[in-house]
Amino acid sequence: MAFRKDFVWGAAASAYQIEGAAFEDGKGESIWDVFSHQPGKVFDGHTGDTACGHYHCMEKDVEMMADLGLKAYRFSVSWPRVLPQGIGDVNEAGMHFYERLVDMLLEHGITPYVTLYHWDMPYALYLRGGWMNPESPQWFAEYAALIGRRLKGKVKHFITFNEPQVFIGCSFIQTVHAPGVRMERRECLQMSHNVLLAHGRAVQALRAEVPGVQIGYAPTSNAAVPVSESLQDQEAARQAYFATPGGDDWVWSVAWWSDPVLLGKYPEDGMKILEKDMPHVGGDDMKLISQPIDFYGQNIYRGDPVRMGQDGRPEFLKHPAGGPKTAIGWHVNFDCLYWAVKFLNERYKKPIYITENGMSCHDWLSLDGKVHDSARIDYLHRHLLGLRRAAEEGIDIAGYFQWSLMDNFEWSQGYSDRFGLVYIDFATLERIPKDSYEWYRETIHMNGENL
Ligand code: NOJ
Repeated sequence: MAFRKDFVWGAAASAYQIEGAAFEDGKGESIWDVFSHQPGKVFDGHTGDTACGHYHCMEKDVEMMADLGLKAYRFSVSWPRVLPQGIGDVNEAGMHFYERLVDMLLEHGITPYVTLYHWDMPYALYLRGGWMNPESPQWFAEYAALIGRRLKGKVKHFITFNEPQVFIGCSFIQTVHAPGVRMERRECLQMSHNVLLAHGRAVQALRAEVPGVQIGYAPTSNAAVPVSESLQDQEAARQAYFATPGGDDWVWSVAWWSDPVLLGKYPEDGMKILEKDMPHVGGDDMKLISQPIDFYGQNIYRGDPVRMGQDGRPEFLKHPAGGPKTAIGWHVNFDCLYWAVKFLNERYKKPIYITENGMSCHDWLSLDGKVHDSARIDYLHRHLLGLRRAAEEGIDIAGYFQWSLMDNFEWSQGYSDRFGLVYIDFATLERIPKDSYEWYRETIHMNGENL
């Protein structure tokens, strides 16, 4: 048996990328509402004001998910939609939206997986320093408690943070994501520590509010893929995967973000490299950050080839000339899920979900009115073969969330990159299932036996 019987076949999305209704029903502004309206920040001046219009056609979208046969749907709550100022008064209309969404999902037999933070920080909190503010873990805990309290009995699965690497790295180092402000390495490390503390506080809050809760975390990484299956190359890839790079690249480290949560300490090599910029770590901080979680999520789209160098150290290689690339320009390495999951399982020993994996393609409506995205089908198929190999080797793989159910707002790329199983006509908001939608439906139905 490759995938277990109760394997969670899902799809994922996030609030700002699909909901629209950015200024409706009492929602507060997020850093993305502000950033996307600043000239030159997002491709062609696109914004998430309307996005896929999901806020207004949520019921239809859930019917589509049911038609697709999804077992689970991973979505994020927009923090400023439920707490316009980030703390304090609740916006009941916003809360009601998520309550209805959850009810609809349950009516259709789809398990909700709720991500608390997928990058849209309330602007009001950003003005108070955002993740730099030592109160930020407390703000996040209050928000987590609210969501737990209001959704308990209906939602069991929660994910604290989506891709902390990106909302620190792309926002404050590369400055291509909101709020787009360059910060010093020392400040970025302090913010990151506050984010980890916020994770810990949210875990506590959710456990206190939601009986039987299952809590996870969803960082990201490019897998390190050994160029051969020799033991040396495998060892090189393992070391490369968990190493903390120097300079600004520390932020992409798997270990920097996951060791504290799963192992209760920052990685030694990272602490050495980052020594002079280390954040202030309080006496109980690591205990708070590392209290037990129930599952480990990882978003994985890519892998980089690694071999053991002559000097006995891991060496990253170039991607093969003319090798496969996605529309957004990312190199494809079909073995990335297998190797990432293998290494993550060895180190963190938790049930693993792939919380995101998918492909941007140059999709368009063909003359026959359909979208023939054969490259996406091949991409998903071959990545799932890698995941299946890991499952066959006995690794505890609980589920897979395809990114994304529908085309959506791809952050600084706006609507120029399409990741969906469902094509969105952004002028009319019409939804058109692509060929990959039909393929994924069959895959779910067959529990992956068709692969
Ligand atoms: C990672 C992010 O979580 C998601 O928001 C984004 O759209 C996809 N990957 C594709 O880049």
